[in-house]
Amino acid sequence: MKIGRVLISTEDIDRRLAEMGAEITEDYRGKDLLLVAVLKGAFMVMADLSRQIDLPLDIDFMAVSSYGAATQTSGVVRILKDLDAEIAGRHVLIVEDIVDSGLTLEYLRKNLEVREPASLEVAALLVKTGIQQVPVACRYVGFEIPPDFVIGYGLDLVGKYRNLPYVAVMEDEGF
Ligand code: IMP
Repeated sequence: MKIGRVLISTEDIDRRLAEMGAEITEDYRGKDLLLVAVLKGAFMVMADLSRQIDLPLDIDFMAVSSYGAATQTSGVVRILKDLDAEIAGRHVLIVEDIVDSGLTLEYLRKNLEVREPASLEVAALLVKTGIQQVPVACRYVGFEIPPDFVIGYGLDLVGKYRNLPYVAVMEDEGF
């Protein structure tokens, strides 16, 4: 496998995150906003999106690992790192890198909902179209993309390529 064509350029990501940030700023004005990113994939979206939100917000991180093959989610999620603080009564916005099957997000939603936040919404940079196994309610979506495996901008293939400043597809090198 090698890095294939660029699917979403750095400029496109920057422009879209600025739009999403402006929308979030308007929607959460006057509210106690807490951004929750899921490590490791969402670290870059969190850094860039949070800088586009013009509000005195708070950030927190969770780390989860899903059981199953390297490039597929089983929906069974293990929490490796939980939030540092309570979220009861707070306006929580989950910041996600990518929604594929939607199973991870569904698990997270359920897990956070029982903690009784004032509101719970999702901002995802990428949503793969048409392959969600469960309905996913994402209030803010950066880009809808085809269901190919992508890397870069936080997304990895067996731990690598997270540092690429753009999103690219992986390609078979052929024999
Ligand atoms: P889901 O539970 O199937 O929606 O997938 C959730 C997680 O799988 C994401 O947060 C990513 O960490 C990972 N993932 C899904 N699709 C891709 C991809 O195309 N490239 C890299 N990681 C992915």
